[in-house]
Amino acid sequence: MRKVMMILLFSVILPGLACAEIPDANSPDAQVYANHCASCHVLPHPGRLDWQGWRNMLYLMEKRMEERGVDKPTAEQWQAIARYVKSHAR
Ligand code: HEC
Repeated sequence: MRKVMMILLFSVILPGLACAEIPDANSPDAQVYANHCASCHVLPHPGRLDWQGWRNMLYLMEKRMEERGVDKPTAEQWQAIARYVKSHAR
């Protein structure tokens, strides 16, 4: 039951929320971003940081995921996330 709720949350509700809040929300990269970056806090707007800031932040977030035992994005998913924030960075 909990698993069903989590799947619902990640596949239906969060992308739905993301649509209203981040640029280009329906693009595949934005979906990957929304799926991986809104589980511990609200989804940050990609214009929040410049690209250098994002590089540091993504590194830090990977550490946070390791600390908390949260499933990390795959290499391809990290690339999609980086591509997404880079294209909308400050
Ligand atoms: C495992 C939990 C976790 C996940 C998953 C996570 N974060 Fe975070 N994030 C944190 C924590 C904790 C902080 C608070 C700062 C710190 O401790 O480093 C934070 C802070 C941030 C901040 C700074 C917020 C501010 O107020 O300035 C940004 C930006 C951010 N995260 C982006 C991301 C992105 C992008 C992803 C997806 C790649 C992501 N986070 C995934 C835990 C997480």
